[in-house]
Amino acid sequence: MRKRNLIIVLTILIAVTYIFVNYNTITSSPVDKDRYLNIDVSMFENGNEIFISPAELHKRTEQKNSSSLIVLDASHPKAYAKGHIPGALSIGFKGLSDTTGKPGDKEWGVILSKEKLIEKLKSLGISNDKLVVVYSDIDKGPGAGGRAVWQLKMAGLENVRLLYGGLEVWKRLGYEVSKKTSKAVPVKNLVLKDYNESFRAKQKYIVENLSNLKIVDVRSLKEYTGKDTSRGEARAGHIKGAKWLSWKSVLNEDTTVKSSDEITSLMAGIGIKPGDDFVLY
Ligand SMILES: *[C@@H]1O[C@H](CO)[C@@H](O)[C@H](O)[C@H]1NC(C)=O
Ligand SMILES: *[C@@H]1O[C@H](CO)[C@@H](O)[C@H](O)[C@H]1NC(C)=O
Ligand SMILES: *[C@@H]1O[C@H](CO)[C@@H](O)[C@H](O)[C@H]1NC(C)=O
Repeated sequence: MRKRNLIIVLTILIAVTYIFVNYNTITSSPVDKDRYLNIDVSMFENGNEIFISPAELHKRTEQKNSSSLIVLDASHPKAYAKGHIPGALSIGFKGLSDTTGKPGDKEWGVILSKEKLIEKLKSLGISNDKLVVVYSDIDKGPGAGGRAVWQLKMAGLENVRLLYGGLEVWKRLGYEVSKKTSKAVPVKNLVLKDYNESFRAKQKYIVENLSNLKIVDVRSLKEYTGKDTSRGEARAGHIKGAKWLSWKSVLNEDTTVKSSDEITSLMAGIGIKPGDDFVLY
């Protein structure tokens, strides 16, 4: 992911995740509830193009006009079964990726080709005029919601948003969750653009430019240092020269995103300032 704007990239990254607190046992104080109700996603640069606030999504789901809205749950299907936003369709973490073959195969887990993605999205009822909202909750690993938003935006869909605060804040607000599996209503027409290469950095680019690239490893410290080899990487450790900044560090304890100022300061700590080009993995 090669991008110019620090905040955009970070919010997407962050986005990428959510949770670590045991949300089942949390109830919001009235003060917190007020704060969550008043979340204004325009507090981030381009925030309106990346996020949708829980209150806004709730309003949209209540309008019995949901044919213009598609909500995708990118959590593990087991988490979906335990409770999801009413009407949300389960895509899981790998729903927009190619899972032909088995983990470890060369192309396993890479994003679907444009042609396959079009078929997949049509089967989910997504057409160009719809608002697509993605969210996730943590199960085995972070990143599902943000990854889907990143991929869909890279494919040229503009009307795609990540739910700010994910399922966590949705629940804290007392909004309904459902255990009923939703069925998609397929559509016939969807046009996507070719994947926008400015959203990603390929292997060749990294290898050729390694000496002057800023790279950030957002995994756990144990994965970064090579002590955790349980995640299936072929080799332990990190890309030479990569700095470490855990994805968790840009989130508050309640899973909301830290302020632009706080994130800017965290990034400064690893030598990256707003406007710099950098690559995340
Ligand atoms: C349906 O949703 C669209 C976009 O979300 C909105 O502009 C429109 O006013 C809604 N129509 C009705 C009848 O609620
Ligand atoms: C690709 O994405 C970048 C960054 O968002 C944008 O500036 C550019 O216009 C996009 N290119 C195309 C062909 O849409
Ligand atoms: C390496 O970086 C330069 C400068 O950004 C770029 O022009 C070149 O295409 C990059 N190499 C590859 C293989 O992408």
